[in-house]
Amino acid sequence: MGKSWGEKGCSLVEMEKDLKAVILAAGKGTRMKSGTPKVLHEIFNKPLIARVLDNISFSAENIVVIGHGASLVKEYLDRNYPKTKTVLQKEQLGTGHALKIASFELEEFKGNLLVLCGDTPLIRQNTLEDFVNFHNENRADITVMSAVFDNPRGYGRIVRDNKGNVKKIVEEKDADLKTKQIKEINAGIYCFNFEAVKKGIDEIKNQNAQGEYYITDLIKWGAERSKKVCLYVIKSCDEIFGINSKKHLAQGYCIMKERKLSELMDNGVTIVDPHTTSISPETEIEPDTVILPSVVIEGKNKIGKNCKIGPFTHLRGGCEIEDFVKLGNFVELKNAKVKSGTNICHLSYVGDSSVGSNVNIGAGTITANYDSRTKIKSRTKINDNASIGSNCVLVAPVEIGENSLIGAGSVITKNVDDYSLGLCRAAQKEIKNYIKKGEIK
Ligand code: UD1
Ligand code: CA
Repeated sequence: MGKSWGEKGCSLVEMEKDLKAVILAAGKGTRMKSGTPKVLHEIFNKPLIARVLDNISFSAENIVVIGHGASLVKEYLDRNYPKTKTVLQKEQLGTGHALKIASFELEEFKGNLLVLCGDTPLIRQNTLEDFVNFHNENRADITVMSAVFDNPRGYGRIVRDNKGNVKKIVEEKDADLKTKQIKEINAGIYCFNFEAVKKGIDEIKNQNAQGEYYITDLIKWGAERSKKVCLYVIKSCDEIFGINSKKHLAQGYCIMKERKLSELMDNGVTIVDPHTTSISPETEIEPDTVILPSVVIEGKNKIGKNCKIGPFTHLRGGCEIEDFVKLGNFVELKNAKVKSGTNICHLSYVGDSSVGSNVNIGAGTITANYDSRTKIKSRTKINDNASIGSNCVLVAPVEIGENSLIGAGSVITKNVDDYSLGLCRAAQKEIKNYIKKGEIK
């Protein structure tokens, strides 16, 4: 775990005004083979760019460099991250060029500039805080995050001198055979003392194999001008995993999922079969809850202790489940509050609902919350100790009173009072002697 700012005795306010971040997100993402811009692809229902931004909440200002699919990315950011600034890189001439365009927004800025890529969503906030602390403690002008990879192919290589000081970064395409053998790679995450490197940003040239302006040239620039250039070697390599293809997207999802399951198990949650269980990073679960196989939990949810969830339960976000709740086979919940001791055990959909404590919802019950004609969603309220028979439809908006009973197979369109029976189904008919005994062989 990285040190938090509080532990360093550095107040949040102080830090905020000292640090800004630039996120490079203008690249095409050709390998995604998609009409959607790369950084808007989602892991656990959240775009990659959002996952990066959520990890730098300590920064005073975030500037995202957009290019490919700029209008879509801007629209998303304006709606969801209104404080984030976007700058347009019309032509993608390289990471150095992207930084230069962002730097136009930073004319008078004198603090630290954290630079990240929009396609690296697995980096943790703790790590980034630790990285910036390291930069400050070393009074560095430039700090580069590096990692040692068994298979460094595709990455920029870190070239150190015989004292271990960093000299430069060489891109794979510009590397000779000897350089290609270096296993220490550039993670693409940097912290700059902005004033110290400002001039260097202006001087980046594009004389290399790809004819691009490389941000990585700043390292050589700094090293040659006795700027203090430091390396921060990250141990947990999965954090810097970059998403460039649909396969990477799936791998990223798996890393995030495994991380979450392991954190939950460490905190006392029983996960019977991690291989078939998927739980979003935004879900909190208390100890002694048991998650049975084939459970999918998406979005932001809170689940109490001693619950039993699954098998085959799907939570779609916005769920608050109290203690001792049972959710069983083929039960789907969305925006639902469920109080303690309630059972929803089979084949039910409960959406936009508040369910009281010790309620029993029989198999095959549906809260009909959506009017597809008006597109209006309405709420269902089921109060404490109510019992809903099997195969009921509760047509929202509707409220079921405390201790009331709903007969199986009812379609309930009106509120039901406390301690009442709600029944809405055709009366049973019986035709005596319908079958002639002699007819049956
Ligand atoms: C870059 C680094 C490489 C490092 C690797 C880590 C350079 C020259 N190389 O290579 O050393 O090992 O990241 O993942 O920086 N982008 C723009 N505008 C551009 C070009 C790129 O905004 O004109 C953005 C991309 O959207 C992406 C990021 O910059 O988010 C990195 O660009 P990419 O082309 O993926 O660089 P790599 O070749 O992976
Ligand atoms: Ca990349």
